[in-house]
Parts: sequence; structure tokens; C-alpha cells
Amino acid sequence: MPFAHITGWGISVPEPVLTNEDISKMVDTNDEWIRDHTGIRERHIAREDQFPSTLAVEASIKALQVANLAPTELDLIIVTSSSPEYIFPATACLVQDQIGATKAGAFDLLAACSGFIYSTNMAAQAIRSGSIKNALVIGTETLSRFTNWKDRNTCILFGDGAGAFVLQASDVPGGVISAVMHSDGSGADSLTLLGGGARHPATEATVHEGKHFIQMDGKAVFRFATRVMGQAIKEALELAGSSLNEVQWIIPHQANYRIIETAAKYIKTPLDKFIINIERYGNTSTASIPIATVEAIQKGQVKSGDKIVFVGFGAGLTWGAMVVDWTGPIPAKKHVHPEQYRAFARLRSFVRRAIRLIEGFFSRKEL
Ligand code: UT7
Repeated sequence: MPFAHITGWGISVPEPVLTNEDISKMVDTNDEWIRDHTGIRERHIAREDQFPSTLAVEASIKALQVANLAPTELDLIIVTSSSPEYIFPATACLVQDQIGATKAGAFDLLAACSGFIYSTNMAAQAIRSGSIKNALVIGTETLSRFTNWKDRNTCILFGDGAGAFVLQASDVPGGVISAVMHSDGSGADSLTLLGGGARHPATEATVHEGKHFIQMDGKAVFRFATRVMGQAIKEALELAGSSLNEVQWIIPHQANYRIIETAAKYIKTPLDKFIINIERYGNTSTASIPIATVEAIQKGQVKSGDKIVFVGFGAGLTWGAMVVDWTGPIPAKKHVHPEQYRAFARLRSFVRRAIRLIEGFFSRKEL
């Protein structure tokens, strides 16, 4: 059975920064309250011309560069997002087209902030089964588009960004070792975005009622998160046949510094074993785990040979954890330049659209 290694990684974070000070000019809050209650100092907000697919493509190209893998070699693309570009088509298909992943299947996976763990596990399982060799997993968010900037309960929390992992089959032991995924839909009301779906299709009334904004019972989510995080870490480690002593890093979903602190206490592990960067990004939902991971690699914290636990939770309610033996890129003699495939991808997309137009024109004539 092949192993599923994480061989590439990349992130894309929009430049504009929104500080707590900026938010205190919009709602009744202040920097001290936000830092004390969440650990957040600032977050990044996408420009008007940046969308989930824009950030996802940038993160993906970087991840493919690290993996030294051409987009044309990808078998599968999974995008996970709590703020997808559309209900359909899948954001994954937009990414497939823009990076020129000519033979990849592509779909979106919705598990809110647990999405990156769910998606990475799905891609790893597809590789482990032997049915595919190369997969791209992306968490991408422009949550700022669904944030009610008059609601101090939510607008202080969220930020935009994207992160991507490349997963590849290898006979060398390592990579994704175990994962647990859980859900409890009885808590579905705790964190919602109700407007625009089949139950509340967009109307003037839904807009008036603010159903197109994130709504959250913060305390309920807080209680749930602190209950499940530690348990999930323990479960995933047990499944992997490992113990906390063997783990170099725990990389949690970055939702609230205090939640991470409570989880650390629950598993009796010092906080310095946790990678935490919420201060500068806020909660970027599905993108928070890969953004924290890539930063930790860039700082020289995460290294080849490390055992890492990823853990996340979110709307649904969903939660999960994953144990990974971190290896890094698979050595290869070839040198590919994934960014060069973008020009080819643009041309290919243009030609295919043109052919569809011409086909449509002639088929109308035939009728
Ligand atoms: O990916 C998952 C996404 N969601 C989460 O992880 C959210 C989890 N929950 C949380 O992070 C926290 O519950 C919040 C940060 C949302 C809220 O923090 P809290 O410590 O639970 O505050 P609270 O809701 O208990 O509010 C305490 C007080 C209240 O005032 P009173 O009723 O005690 O007078 C709030 O009205 O703080 C007030 N408050 C604020 N004050 C200043 C609530 N939000 C703010 C604010 N600035 N932004």
C-alpha cells in the first residue's frame, strides 16, 4: 500500500491589513478587548479583485513549485472553503482550469473550519488506496465578504487567505499516518451562513434580515471547541500508535488563542509545542492550518522527520485531527516550473470556450 506524503506547500494572503484599531472605528470594541478575548491583533482582507479561486491558484502554484510537480500530473484537486466562489460550480474546477491541471478530477468539500483536515485525509486515502498518485488540497477563504461589519461578535474574528498542500504517493513510509473525523449536526445552529441556499434563497427579505452574513453563538462554539480538541488529538495519536511525547508540533485551527490554551491544558502539553499565528491572521477557517504550517516551515520550526498533529473544529459541527510524519518534497532530477503552465492554461481555457461558442452557434443552426 503506498504512503501519502505531503510534498509541497504554499500560501497566499492578501496584502491589505485590518487592525483591531480599524475595527474599533466600525463597532463598539477596542484593541485590548479583542486581544484579551481572542489573541487577534490584525487580519488580512482580500482586495475587490481577489476571490477564493485567485488566492487558491497562487497558493497552489507555490505548493506545486515546492513539490516540483507539473499541474498536468495532478490526479485530484480538492478545494475546501467556508466562503466558496459560488454554490456551484465548485471552486476546485475554477482552480483546475486556471492552473492547467488537465487530467485532474476536482470537487469542493464543505466541513467549515475542519475542512482542511477532512480534505487532506480524503486525498491521502485516495492515494493510500492506490487509485491516484498526486493530489492538491486547498483551503481558501474570503470570509470578509460574509462578515457583518456591524456585528462585533463576529467581525473581530475572521480573516482572508489560502493555503495548499500537494500530496504524493511513495513507497517510503511516512506522510499521513492517521486521521479522525467527527460531526454533530445537533449543533448546526451554533455557527451558520443561512442565506442563498435552498431553504433561504436570496431575496430582498433574506438580505434585509442579514441571512447572507455569518451568525454565531460564540460561547457555544467556544465550549464545543475546548471539549473536542484535546479528545481528537488523543484519538488520532492512538490510531497512529504514537504518544504525545513523540510529537514535535501540534498545529491547531487558529480560531481563538484561549481555545488553544485550554486544549493545551487538557492534554497537559506546554503551549510552546503549538504553532500559533492567530495574532496576525485572525481566523481564516479552512486556510488557518496550512497558513500556520507554512509559516512554521519558513521559520525553520517544522522540519523533515518531525511528527505533527493537525487538529481542527468548526461549523457543522465538525472536528477532526490528523497525525503526519513530515517528510517534505520527494527528491527528483527534473525541474518543472508550474507557473509557466498558467499561460498554457489560459490559452487552453480560451480555446475551449471558443470551441463551445462555435459548437453552440452551429447546433442552433441545425435545429
Ligand atoms: O472556527 C470557529 C469559529 N468560531 C469560534 O471559534 C468562536 C469561539 N468563541 C469565541 O471565540 C468567543 O466566544 C468570542 C471571542 C466570540 C467572544 O468572547 P467571550 O469571552 O466568549 O465573550 P462573551 O461573548 O462572553 O462576551 C463578554 C462581554 C459581553 O458583555 P456583557 O454582556 O458581559 O456586558 C459582550 O457583549 O463582552 C461583550 N463583547 C464585546 N466587547 C467588546 C462581545 N464582543 C465584544 C467585542 N468588543 N468585540
